[in-house]
Amino acid sequence: MQESFAEAQELMWDSSMERKLQENRKGSTHREVPRVLGLLLAMAIMNVFLYLCLDQLFISPRRSTEDPRHCPHGYFRIGQMKNCSRWLSCEELRTEVRRLKRIGEGAVKRVFLSEWNEHKVALSRLSSLEMKDDFLHGLEMLKSLQSRHIVTLVGYCEDDSTILTEYHPFGSLNNLEETLNLSKYQNVNSWQQRLQLAVEYVSILNYLHHSPVGTRVMCDSNDLPKTLSQYLLTSNFSIVANDLDALPLVNRNSQTFVKCGHRELHGDFVAPEQLWPYGKDAPFQDDLMPSYDEKIDIWKIPDVSSFLLGRVEGSDMVRFHLFDIHKACKSQAPAERPTAQDVLDAYQNILHSLRDSVTSQTREML
Ligand SMILES: Nc1ncnc2c1ncn2[C@@H]1O[C@H](COP(=O)(O)OP(=O)(O)O)[C@@H](O)[C@H]1O
Ligand SMILES: [Mg+2]
Repeated sequence: MQESFAEAQELMWDSSMERKLQENRKGSTHREVPRVLGLLLAMAIMNVFLYLCLDQLFISPRRSTEDPRHCPHGYFRIGQMKNCSRWLSCEELRTEVRRLKRIGEGAVKRVFLSEWNEHKVALSRLSSLEMKDDFLHGLEMLKSLQSRHIVTLVGYCEDDSTILTEYHPFGSLNNLEETLNLSKYQNVNSWQQRLQLAVEYVSILNYLHHSPVGTRVMCDSNDLPKTLSQYLLTSNFSIVANDLDALPLVNRNSQTFVKCGHRELHGDFVAPEQLWPYGKDAPFQDDLMPSYDEKIDIWKIPDVSSFLLGRVEGSDMVRFHLFDIHKACKSQAPAERPTAQDVLDAYQNILHSLRDSVTSQTREML
């Protein structure tokens, strides 16, 4: 844009110089003053235009990625709260939170819809003592990763093994179809909204792979329903990661890689490098099982995205456009798979170009 503007300025300058020379040749210098003033005015207008364009290019994207509801570390804001409040303490959790009903349960936590200060919140309690380490790891991750991609932490009490988070009434992504099929949400049940959800899902992976606490792998994702159960659908049809109990660290510099659990994994939802590589005749042995990296998350993207796209008008057309990037995600060799950022860029390009072509088709029809 800057180049074409410079070219335009050059062109204007060239043509005005030519005109000036011609006029000089003709000896008509009395018309020169208003012409020069006009030229200066045009250049000033173009400079303002350039300034506005640069503002769009360099300032607006920064504004749009900032979370306007962001609070400093150790504070939260949910619902209609005007100010940020400090994470609730054990004492406050014990006395100010009223448990209403059980809304979910996984391997580590039992989750209750609860009320705090007229706000709906989710109270998670450790379900079995054996899982305490995973619970504490999840809590550490929740504290470290607070951002627009992660469920808001409201408070916690390590002594009681409880965590309080913002409540999301639509629940996990497992409820997506059921929710979008309600007649009141027909307007959001479109390929555009569903592709936007896929963009958000990949944005979360991208955030975890470049997190403030290093490259984190979403390990608790050995099948599709399990993976979906770790994310919540928010009331404005966005996605946040909720269950961070299994987010091991990958560090290429120190050759730190991960293994998701200690048991043998099967099926093609998990990445090929997560399967026992030594054949059926050799019994599985955890210590012989090779470790792997965050590219296992990339392998799973096409399956999760395909679920998010569902079966609505236009979703097959979107699948067709995602074909190449999804094929790359399913490369057998982890190093050949794209990064989450590559997938995110591809998704965003496809979303924008499809939206633009729909807009221009609609204009043509009118
Ligand atoms: N903040 C929340 N709002 C709504 N539902 C929630 C919330 N937190 C958890 N749930 C529900 O509880 C289920 C289990 O929670 P999760 O944190 O995944 O537990 P676990 O660690 O045991 O797997 C989720 O899949 C979801 O259905
Ligand atoms: Mg879970």
